[in-house]
Parts: sequence; C-alpha cells; structure tokens
Amino acid sequence: MKRLSLLLLSLAVPFSLMVSCGQSGSENAHLQARIDSLQNKLDSIYTPGTGAFMNTIVQPHHLKLWFAGQNKNWALAEYERQELMGGFEKIQKYHKNKPEATTIAMIFPAMNAVEKAIRDKDAVAFKSNFVTLTNTCNTCHQALKYEFNVIKVPTTNSFGNQSF
Ligand code: HEC
Repeated sequence: MKRLSLLLLSLAVPFSLMVSCGQSGSENAHLQARIDSLQNKLDSIYTPGTGAFMNTIVQPHHLKLWFAGQNKNWALAEYERQELMGGFEKIQKYHKNKPEATTIAMIFPAMNAVEKAIRDKDAVAFKSNFVTLTNTCNTCHQALKYEFNVIKVPTTNSFGNQSF
C-alpha cells in the first residue's frame, strides 16, 4: 500500500513538472492514465473486514491463549498473546476511520494484565485476567451494537491437532 502510494507520488511529481515545462498533451494523457490505473489498483486492494479479523485471528488466538495458560505452557501463552495482539493492531491499522479502531483500545489494559501474569508464570492471575479480557471482548461488542456476539472462556479445545 505504502509502496503504491510512493509510486503514485513518484509519477505525480515528474508529471506536474512536465506540465509546467509544456510537455506534449499525449504524454500527459499517458501519465494521467497510468496514475488512474494505479489509483484503481489501490482502491481495489482486498482488506479483510473487522469481522474477518475477529474470526480468523482474534477468536482462535483467544482460545489457544487460554489452553496454553491452563497448561502453564508460558512460552506458548506469550506467543498466542502476541498473535492475539496482532489481530487488534491490524484492526487499528486497516480500519482507522471506523469506530472499532478507536474502541479497541479498551482491551489493552486487560491484554497487559495477561502479559504480566504470563511473565510472572502466575496461573491464578492468568485465569482472573483472562476472565477480565473475555468480559472486555463483550463490552466492546456491546458498545458497537454487536452484543449478540458473545464470547466466553473456552470450554472445549477445537484445535485437536496442536499440543498445549
Ligand atoms: C472494537 C472492540 C472490539 C473488541 C475489543 C473485540 N471485538 Fe470482536 N468484534 C467487534 C466487532 C465490531 C465485531 C463485528 C465486526 C463485523 O462483523 O464486521 C466483532 C466480531 C467478533 C466475532 C464474530 C466473528 C464471526 O464471524 O462470527 C468474534 C468471534 C469476536 N468478535 C471475538 C472477539 C474476541 C474473542 C475478543 C476479545 C479477545 C474481541 N472480539 C474483542 C469488536 C470488538
């Protein structure tokens, strides 16, 4: 995305110089056509929606984080926590202008508390902070009128092909 924007800029600067130097009309039109085509590409780049990030990143890593913590597998838990965080960061980055990008910050204190519990290898703190984390998922869903998406502390592990 950034690279394409740079490319557009690098085309736009010589283009405006040519205009001011009296470059031929057909070359200007050619450059304009290239800019338009690159802009079209930029506009049609696929970006997963918040629902897709939730479904493919946030939901599975929330579950895996729980089972890693339950098994006191702290290295795995920290890995899953970072993956989960990555999902939230992607929403902030790719949906900047949507309400979820600003609302998502409400989950960071709970994420930090889980991080500390992992660092301290504290199973009791992990459990209570994970409950707070899960409640905050729902607080955000309620705030954004997706209250029907109810998250709970996982009961069964749907990833039978991974050792926790
Ligand atoms: C910005 C605040 C926010 C936070 C924090 C948040 N969510 Fe979401 N979540 C949403 C929104 C908004 C949607 C609906 C998005 C859509 O469908 O476009 C959603 C949808 C979902 C869905 C439904 C996806 C589907 O396809 O069924 C799941 C599952 C989900 N979130 C899990 C979680 C979990 C787990 C957490 C906490 C670890 C969490 N969410 C935290 C805003 C949030």
